[in-house]
Amino acid sequence: MPSLNDIRSTFLGYFERNGHRVVDSSPLVPRNDPTLMFANSGMVQFKNLFTGVETRDYNRATSAQKCVRAGGKHNDLDNVGYTARHHTFFEMLGNFSFGDYFKDQAIAHAWELLTRDFAIPKDRLLVTVYHTDDEAVQIWKKVAGLSDDRIIRIPTSDNFWQMGPTGPCGPCTEIFFDHGDKIPGGPPGSPDEDGDRFIEIWNLVFMQNEQFEDGSMRALDMQSIDTGMGLERIGALLQGKHDNYDTDLMRSLIEASAHATSADPDGPGKVHHRVIADHLRSTSFLIADGVMPSNEGRGYVLRRIMRRAMRHAHMLGAQDPVMHKLVPALVRQMGAAYPELTRAQAMIEETLRSEETRFRQTLDRGLRLLDDELARLPEGADLPGEAAFKLYDTFGFPLDLTQDALREKGRAVQTEGFDAAMAEQKRMARAAWSGSGEAADATIWFELAEKHGVTEFLGYDTEEAEGQITALVIDGADAAEAGEGAKVAIVVNQSPFYAESGGQVGDHGLIRTETGAARVTDTKKVAGVFIHQAEVTMGTISRGQGAQLSVDHERRSAIRANHSATHLLHEALRGALGDHVAQRGSLNAPDRLRFDFSHNHAVTAEQLAAIEAEVNGYVRQNSPVETRIMTPDDARALGAQALFGEKYGDEVRVVSMGAQPGSGKGADGATYSLELCGGTHVARTGDIGAFVLLGDAASSAGVRRIEALTGQAALAHLRHADSRLAEIAGILKAQSAEVVTRVRALADERKALANEVAQLKRQLAMGGGDEAEEIAGVKFIARKVEGVGGKELGALVDEMKASLGSGAVLVLAEDGGKATVAAGVTPDLTGRINAVALVQAATAALGGKGGGGRPDRAQGGAPSLAAAETAFQDARKIIEDSK
Ligand code: ALA
Repeated sequence: MPSLNDIRSTFLGYFERNGHRVVDSSPLVPRNDPTLMFANSGMVQFKNLFTGVETRDYNRATSAQKCVRAGGKHNDLDNVGYTARHHTFFEMLGNFSFGDYFKDQAIAHAWELLTRDFAIPKDRLLVTVYHTDDEAVQIWKKVAGLSDDRIIRIPTSDNFWQMGPTGPCGPCTEIFFDHGDKIPGGPPGSPDEDGDRFIEIWNLVFMQNEQFEDGSMRALDMQSIDTGMGLERIGALLQGKHDNYDTDLMRSLIEASAHATSADPDGPGKVHHRVIADHLRSTSFLIADGVMPSNEGRGYVLRRIMRRAMRHAHMLGAQDPVMHKLVPALVRQMGAAYPELTRAQAMIEETLRSEETRFRQTLDRGLRLLDDELARLPEGADLPGEAAFKLYDTFGFPLDLTQDALREKGRAVQTEGFDAAMAEQKRMARAAWSGSGEAADATIWFELAEKHGVTEFLGYDTEEAEGQITALVIDGADAAEAGEGAKVAIVVNQSPFYAESGGQVGDHGLIRTETGAARVTDTKKVAGVFIHQAEVTMGTISRGQGAQLSVDHERRSAIRANHSATHLLHEALRGALGDHVAQRGSLNAPDRLRFDFSHNHAVTAEQLAAIEAEVNGYVRQNSPVETRIMTPDDARALGAQALFGEKYGDEVRVVSMGAQPGSGKGADGATYSLELCGGTHVARTGDIGAFVLLGDAASSAGVRRIEALTGQAALAHLRHADSRLAEIAGILKAQSAEVVTRVRALADERKALANEVAQLKRQLAMGGGDEAEEIAGVKFIARKVEGVGGKELGALVDEMKASLGSGAVLVLAEDGGKATVAAGVTPDLTGRINAVALVQAATAALGGKGGGGRPDRAQGGAPSLAAAETAFQDARKIIEDSK
């Protein structure tokens, strides 16, 4: 009996031998289609090849595509577990022709593979075709020899395949397997077609049209083929089973569930095991493709599936988290075909365990509340929506989980009441919102959030994505379109652009649509709505258009490096200065990073050097940067750094980087930096390139501010410093290495020269010898000097006094436009003559006022020395009068 893994290989091998390129499954989160929540068929990744927008180096392909149908157009969640063939996750096998072969070869390949390689008896097969497709009927007759009664014409959309509301589409032919008359049910198109006897196994789509949003359709230039066959269905058939859950792969997961819960796989808990086996696949593959549980968008679909499985595990009597224990069984089954599953195994297990641990804390109480509510209702009545909302809001029960729980009791939820309670909660959140600058015009963003939902951020994994323009806002008002030159806020349903938050600046980049382009100069968010502030640079862009969003890669890379370096810096600061160091603010811009932290002293040059060296050590270590999602409490228990006073949601991203063997830090005892952070980070620490600290300064009381550079900016800074040094060396005619010694010598030399000059000036002032006059028996020197400043004047007066032995001195000095008056009297004469009086008299004569000092030496300023002679005369008079 072939295993599902064998069947997958046989399928891919068959088409490879027939000239098809084997292409890997695309991720579950479509990168090239904003209208899809998850990849839901094999053709999604080839969409643009069918429409001719894109070409590749092959025109035939085959793949086994991971698909999730939960939420959105194809939603199978509610049925999973209760039916034989519903899954949230399944694999779609497909072969594709892009303008190469068409109907005849597609049908011939399908027939050959089914009846020859898979050896399915021909008489058990029948087909449907679109009612007008005579060509397909003829081909089936020719290739398979099918009689008319086994080629059924279907006039409905069942035989016209569309991926979604827009995109490539076309008529199709479906191949059915007849399980025989033991099983009730009629052939397709008959009144009892919903029975289980005739099962569709393969859908061949003849891609020849493209559907547009306005409902119109065009014929595609080329005719292509898209086929899809569920591996689980063909697997069941080839393994002689009627139920997909009885195939080897699904059965091994069911047995793992039975083992983990010690509950009989085929006993009364059968449905629970089936739900768990299916949901294990979808949740694990979604997590492996980067989706994390949250309360919005894809993350919420994931959470709903997870919690639904967890409730079923609980119903099997499991006392502890179960789901994570089943991951190894899944990896054993599917890890070889999907290596991403193996790579993400640890993260999948951790995410499942933490979600289940948390959900279990409220699950019991929620289920009790549900029972109490039901007990109060009349027999069989539906649960009021308000009660379902309370279960959602307080106990984390997604609506479909409550519906699932009620289904077993044959009841439902009044969903209108639920919707009304949800709307009311949103209204209150909006009323309570107090924003900063944008508060005044915030209403519009809240309205947009309510109307179109919040923007889903894709930028942790990609810098390019398609989004759908849900709104354009010009000057605070909703607009249908924006023409060239318009300044417009562009809102999309999903975006790779990072909206400013947590100190990381918003992204720049380009948004293009079929009819125009806009340059994004900032990205912000209000109420979960990303606001791409942009200017239309070409053509026109319109609401409702699909848009290609490209983040400025260089800029984002620089921001990422700075943000990751900030985490390393934070940890290095704590190591060097102590645990009191806490983040008080930060800026992660493309050109630099800034980090404010609590600390009372300046950081010394040695400490800065050590911190810089430590950070660069981790940069060179080039260890991977990892992100996990957990509860704030779990994160704190791990020792993650969180912002004091910050309010965190139910779950937080924890970013860890740097391997520090045996440090005792982090989950595995080896993580250097562990921080709660919603920002974008480098993949490996080596991507930071280099780290240079620019020094530390006081920011406010008890807070220091450090700035630093990374990567190219750090290197440019060092290069600049180096060329300045070389320039200085050039001026000194020295080697760079000698610059410090030489500059120190120059400074010493300059000081010595300055002293020498001062002395020479004094000598010059003294020059002309001892021309003392004698007034009333007192020797008096009256001198006017130039180029001597206030500072040197004191020394000059003292020298003059010394040369007199006994006497008085008055010096009027001028230096750089400043006039100074100084006087001195030798100690033996201070009883008779006061130096202060001499200065004041001279100053007054010069047109000024004041002057002061001691009786033996005084000094003052004057407007000018124009009246020098009068000043001398007035001083002489004082000496005269002192007789
Ligand atoms: N794309 C087609 C399907 O999903 C083959 O059925």
